[in-house]
Amino acid sequence: MNFNLTEEHLAVQQAAREFAQTELLPTVIERDTHSTFPHEAIKKMGELGFLGMMVSPEYGGGGMDTVSYVLAMEEISKVDASASVVMSVNNSLVCWGLESFGTEEQKQKYLTPLASGQIIGAFCLSEPEAGSDATSQRTTAEDKGDYYLLNGTKNWITNGGTSSVCLVIAQTHPELKHKGINCLIVEKGWEGFMVGKKEDKMGIRSSDTHTLMFSDVKVPKENKIGEDGFGFKFAMTTLNGGRIGIAAQALGIAAGAYELAVKYSKERKAFGKTISEHQAIQFKLAEMATKIEAARLLVYKAARLKDEHKDFVQAAAMAKLFASEVAMWATTEAVQIHGGYGYVKEYHVERLMRDAKITQIYEGTSEIQKLVIAREILK
Ligand code: CAA
Repeated sequence: MNFNLTEEHLAVQQAAREFAQTELLPTVIERDTHSTFPHEAIKKMGELGFLGMMVSPEYGGGGMDTVSYVLAMEEISKVDASASVVMSVNNSLVCWGLESFGTEEQKQKYLTPLASGQIIGAFCLSEPEAGSDATSQRTTAEDKGDYYLLNGTKNWITNGGTSSVCLVIAQTHPELKHKGINCLIVEKGWEGFMVGKKEDKMGIRSSDTHTLMFSDVKVPKENKIGEDGFGFKFAMTTLNGGRIGIAAQALGIAAGAYELAVKYSKERKAFGKTISEHQAIQFKLAEMATKIEAARLLVYKAARLKDEHKDFVQAAAMAKLFASEVAMWATTEAVQIHGGYGYVKEYHVERLMRDAKITQIYEGTSEIQKLVIAREILK
């Protein structure tokens, strides 16, 4: 497999790095402290093309490959994982799902503004009693002839408050179990669509996570994605690609913490020399660098397979599983290297450690990734 990056890839990586350093870094601690959504930065990300990177230019996207997307995700996540989850959900769940399975009318109406960042989207699968067990959907989309009547509650929805368009997974034919589920495109502001409480989270605090409620929301039939009963397959197929984005996010969080740890270790003195001259620290840095590089190769591999239209389900699950575990471990090590300074906000690593945790949970927990990998091995 060719892991060489092209000139275009390097340019995207550089642009994302510069954006993260100039637009996100100066205010990231403040936004984390007050759980403030990065409205301005997200608007600029849209203008720079980071919100619809893989969407065809025909629909206002960047027409880039998945490798470009993971490179940008890594750079933005090194600095601000809250901004990068907004980017990830919009790119790989909402835009990719719509472009791959939407009708021409749906793409014209919804994908074009989503890909250019004029509006942002949300992906609504999880429910109070359907997290990992996603087939147990309680939200219903009753077929009323020319529309669906949507009722139910969705939990932990990224971009829940700020999104204009939501892809909502709901049960239409309970007797058919997961084969009776549909995915509906639902607009914010439709009667009966209520935005519930904003979550007060451990990490990715400036991203916007809400409960969403639907009470007799009328959704036109033309807003269903794919054939009747395609909704669960849609969610699973979309999440396969989404997991590459979250793997890249985890990689960025780990790499960001590692870079800060290297820098700090060369400045901080203890016992008459910089701590980077102590073997205890050198071993930590060496192990961090090795595991982060291994995670990077898994992320690149999954992205390449997707770009080559090959089966990437196992590779994506492996990348997410490994990168998220590395993120949790490497950020903890980075805090340890910083000592007492690592435990305070100013040095960034404590935030990265808090942000890392969610990458082991959303878009399929580590345990679900193991289940996906095992099923792929044994099938
Ligand atoms: N790709 C494509 N199809 C898949 C699939 C995959 N990875 N995994 C399952 N499917 C299909 C199966 O083929 C099956 O369809 P058929 O019957 O037509 O063959 C159907 O889905 C049901 O699969 P199973 O019979 O295997 O169902 P299960 O209940 O045993 O397992 C599961 C399903 C894999 C555990 C699934 O529920 C799952 O992935 N759970 C995790 C859910 C998740 O990732 N949630 C994330 C929420 S979104 C989010 O976090 C976004 C955000 O805001 C950041």
